[in-house]
Amino acid sequence: MTTFQHDSQTLLATCAPDYADHALGELASVAVAVREEVAPGVLLAESERGFLALAKAWRSAGPIFIRHVNPVHSIIEGVEGSLFSQLTQAVETDLLPHIAPDVPFSIQTRMLDDALSLKPFDISKPLSTLIEQETGAALDVRDPRQVISVAVVSLGDRVRAWVGLSDVRDNLSDWAGGVRRFKRSPEQVSRSEFKLLEAFETFQIALPPRGRALDLGAAPGGWTRILRLAEQFVIAVDPGDLHPSILADKGVGYRRMTAQQYLQEEPDEFDLIVNDMRMDARDSARLMVDYAKCLYPHGAALMSLKLTEDQPLELVEGAFAILDPVYQRRGARQFFHNRNEIMVYLTLR
Ligand SMILES: C[S@@+](CC[C@H](N)C(=O)[O-])C[C@H]1O[C@@H](n2cnc3c(N)ncnc32)[C@H](O)[C@@H]1O
Repeated sequence: MTTFQHDSQTLLATCAPDYADHALGELASVAVAVREEVAPGVLLAESERGFLALAKAWRSAGPIFIRHVNPVHSIIEGVEGSLFSQLTQAVETDLLPHIAPDVPFSIQTRMLDDALSLKPFDISKPLSTLIEQETGAALDVRDPRQVISVAVVSLGDRVRAWVGLSDVRDNLSDWAGGVRRFKRSPEQVSRSEFKLLEAFETFQIALPPRGRALDLGAAPGGWTRILRLAEQFVIAVDPGDLHPSILADKGVGYRRMTAQQYLQEEPDEFDLIVNDMRMDARDSARLMVDYAKCLYPHGAALMSLKLTEDQPLELVEGAFAILDPVYQRRGARQFFHNRNEIMVYLTLR
């Protein structure tokens, strides 16, 4: 039997702590009942139809606020000193028979609070050695296909851990808990760069070589920089200032004006339109609809929808209702690097 048939009714779903209520709503909409928030943004839940059916449904239309999910095949409770031996035993009895020997694996360990002295590496390293020895499967932390997820939390002087095995494509993210970290570079212009990188990676957006990109709400220029690194010629539109390094780049055309004003110039077509404008999500969606005529038929669009504290779901649904007649929604997610916003990936209908 391979890992991909190893089902479970218990699962851990992870979201941004401030959006746990929305994640709960998303789980309820697919008949998954949350038992407990075991740590901020980490929800222990039960699905009667099982993790595999849920993951299959989410492959075609995934949740927005849940950024990671994994099945739970073993639950361990004890003292920290004996955690590792209990984990080893659970892996040996519950998981080893299901690990596919010809599929690269990784152990993704999360300590869900700071009170524990064990570090993720203290668990991942010896467990991966055990799995390599016992199954012959190759460890590949960069590009695993099957993942053993371990999450540990402390309960005073005791600890609890949840362990599960899954196909990485069923976890919504290749990263432990959906925490995708990127290296900072000295050239970085804004933190926003990370959310564009995360969106390119997750939505698997391939840019044409030497394509034309339009960056609406570009200042100070982080997204423009990332687009330039991807060899795109960029028109950067913003009434605000661009960073000097972006201004000096001959591959960037700067239009110091609003997106509404730039539209009056009847711009040419683009392979990609990105929009990180700080504005009401529905107004931003209306502008994207106006800009649809500036997108090549094969083109793609990526936008952040800014959420407000009250009724973010209504905002999202309102924006979708405006976008949907013109664009097909290919993906919508709140990534690790998104704070009060979500990212939406669109192509023309
Ligand atoms: C979050 S920042 C963009 C950050 C940018 N993506 C980066 O990586 O550096 C939002 C920007 O939206 C711009 N903005 C707000 N309303 C706009 C409008 N109507 N047209 C163009 N830009 C707008 C603001 O001036 C601000 O620079």
